[in-house]
Amino acid sequence: MADQEFVAPPYVKNMQRVDTYSEIDEILRSTAFRQGSHQESHMFFGESLLLMDGPGHMERRMLFASLVSKSAMHYYESQALAPVIDKVIAELKEKGRGADGLVRTDLVPLIRTMLHRITALVTGVDKVDSPETTERFRWLVDRLGEAATVEWSTRDHEEVIKEGLAVRKMLIDEFLQPSLDRRRELVRRQKAGEIAKEDLPVDLFTLLCQTGDDARPGDETYIWREAALFLVASTQTTTHTLPHVIVHLTEWCKTHAEDAPKVTDPIFLRRAATESLRLHQPAPTLLRIALEDVTLSSGRQIKKDERVALFFAPANRDERFGPDPYGFNPYRAAPHGAQAWGLTFGGGVHMCIGRPLVTGMFNRTDDLTGTEGTMIKILRVLYELGVELDPASPPQKMAVSYHDAYGVFPVILRKL
Ligand code: HEM
Repeated sequence: MADQEFVAPPYVKNMQRVDTYSEIDEILRSTAFRQGSHQESHMFFGESLLLMDGPGHMERRMLFASLVSKSAMHYYESQALAPVIDKVIAELKEKGRGADGLVRTDLVPLIRTMLHRITALVTGVDKVDSPETTERFRWLVDRLGEAATVEWSTRDHEEVIKEGLAVRKMLIDEFLQPSLDRRRELVRRQKAGEIAKEDLPVDLFTLLCQTGDDARPGDETYIWREAALFLVASTQTTTHTLPHVIVHLTEWCKTHAEDAPKVTDPIFLRRAATESLRLHQPAPTLLRIALEDVTLSSGRQIKKDERVALFFAPANRDERFGPDPYGFNPYRAAPHGAQAWGLTFGGGVHMCIGRPLVTGMFNRTDDLTGTEGTMIKILRVLYELGVELDPASPPQKMAVSYHDAYGVFPVILRKL
């Protein structure tokens, strides 16, 4: 029960810490709390879906539902993920082998590159199509993500924000503004009856042009903050969580040799990914602010306007997850009344809208109408290529932040 695993990052050290499953679940579902995350990084995510509350939030969520509809999900996976994975792998092959005949790479940038096309499609960003523009886009979004989660940075926060604002400006000039302008024109033509509504792209920018939110009077930069949320949420989260699955499976297969051949089986991989997601969250804590004095069912008291830090890592190791909740077990039975991944995708009104994209839409991966999910698809391809940790160069946790994530994750693709 190594409690030191869950040391509070300095940003939350003076906040009341909530770390039991039932208390966090109660807070996330309660109308007596409002969103309290991203206050320091407000200039990047402010007024976006994630930081809205009340009826306005629900309305916006319904508007954005088409971005993660079943048909959109099929499209992203088959047209935006599968061909990109093929391309990335072909490029790796071209780069050649080391002196020992093996292909080596770092999984962290590799995952981001694999996801960039989905991210661009969901947000509505054009021209992310050549190796040069892809690399540039990936780099800019990566830097933006660091600034948009500055709360967890180990670096000087002012410096990180300054860099983030400069990076956002570059992202806008090089990618976002031209893409938004194109959609403004498409929506203008649709409203003038020149093109059909069905011919409009389904993406965030187009939706916001349709509602007039592309240029809110008095808040012209709102659109960049909503775009930043979608750009960062759709890449950083999966990049943070996926490598953990490989670490856990490497350890698991050492003592469960009979499972080693199953690492290319999507059903086994889904179990492994789900269990790993229970143990590792993409952010150290979520924060909420009480709208009134609250006494939780546990008796814990939270004062009006108090900001509380919700620690998912200990909560997801609650005894409701069965024996040895600190351990990784891909055969763990799903708990009653909780998701197998625990609270990792949040709960209540702000629960992650991208979850089906990550874990797939069906439990049965052989169901032809379902999707595999980006995480499982990427893992399957990597294992088919014989992914292994590189013994000469162990993975390193992120040095620049308190995220439970790797900054460098060297692997060997033995079968490539
Ligand atoms: C491993 C992958 C992911 C994890 C663990 C994850 C986790 C979360 C969590 C915990 C929240 C709730 C935050 C809060 O309550 O304060 C959230 C919200 C959100 N996520 Fe994800 N996420 C993942 C992937 C994605 C993807 C791929 C997208 C892309 C569409 C996405 C888009 C969003 C959005 C837009 C919200 C805000 C929803 C709202 O406030 O109504 N996420 N995510």
